[in-house]
Amino acid sequence: MSETQTIEHDAKARIAAAADLAALEALRVEFLGKQGSVSALMKTLGKMSPEERQTKGPEIQALRQAVTDALAARKDVLEAEALEAKLAAETLDLTLPAPAATRGSVHPVSQVMDELAEIFADLGFAVATGPEIEDDWYNFTALNMPESHPARAMHDTFYFPDTAPKGGKMLLRTHTSPVQIRTMLAEGAPLRIIAPGRVYRSDSDATHTPMFHQIEGLVIDKGIHLGHLKWTLETFLKAFFENEDIVIRLRPSYFPFTEPSVEADVGFELVDGKRVLGGSGDAPGHGWMELLGSGMVNRRVIEMGGLDPDEWQGFAFGIGVDRLAMLKYGMDDLRAFFDGDARWLQHYGFSALAQPTLSAGVGERA
Ligand code: DAH
Repeated sequence: MSETQTIEHDAKARIAAAADLAALEALRVEFLGKQGSVSALMKTLGKMSPEERQTKGPEIQALRQAVTDALAARKDVLEAEALEAKLAAETLDLTLPAPAATRGSVHPVSQVMDELAEIFADLGFAVATGPEIEDDWYNFTALNMPESHPARAMHDTFYFPDTAPKGGKMLLRTHTSPVQIRTMLAEGAPLRIIAPGRVYRSDSDATHTPMFHQIEGLVIDKGIHLGHLKWTLETFLKAFFENEDIVIRLRPSYFPFTEPSVEADVGFELVDGKRVLGGSGDAPGHGWMELLGSGMVNRRVIEMGGLDPDEWQGFAFGIGVDRLAMLKYGMDDLRAFFDGDARWLQHYGFSALAQPTLSAGVGERA
């Protein structure tokens, strides 16, 4: 056997036996690297006579090609094997049943807030927000409840030690009404907003929780009167309860931030001991249920909002969102709203993927 044949024989055998890519690379260096045996043979060509080179040249070239081909072929095989091994190790059994995903649900309070935003959007109201940690001035003083005003007593809340920028202490807001002031100051007039959110009072029993939800409404424009307020409340309540038979009654009341102030009652009928909304509360077997506070915005509040009360008038209203949810969806214990009991939520929650319950909202529709 010639030297080239010996090398080729040896190289092919060892390449075929290379166990992995690292071993194969070592062999490539051994044969074809700068110091490799095939490279060494190539270098001998320079010292040969032209005749000898003529026969040896092609022989050595062929050897080099054969070793290169053998290396490439083995590399393909080893790579395919490595891929096979990886696929086998990382296999997924797609026939196994997937673990059941626990599905959350939309809390009735969130659902009702979405419904309200949808109804009021149809009436041209935008959603405004304000902070839950509020300045005494926005929560009370600017709403015509100066320090020592007796109405403050009904709004006992949680105070922070820090002094508020405009005096008094910072506090957890007791109602969504401060958003009225913030929005007037920030945006001027005209305005049509609702402000849903959390509010706090130092109160806890079957019908009171220290945190609950309200939605505030505010319209500021020219020539606004009680008729606008009544129409808006009636239209929104009919849409919200999806009930055209809703009748409301405006009853004189008092709030420092409205003048005149009214409370809106909604008529219900007693059916098998249960209150079913609809119809005048004065009819036999009927009654009135108090639902919300409202009124024409007090001139002093409009002034506190940076506007001229001779030019701008408006109405405002405030409603308990939790109460609305209880009435519409038939829940009777307010505390259960905030217990975080998953079974309660499974029962009363709404699917995040369902269509909104209000298919049409308000307004003229075919
Ligand atoms: N802020 C009042 C409360 O929490 C509710 C309220 C009454 C809001 C009358 C209003 C209003 O905007 O006009 O008791």
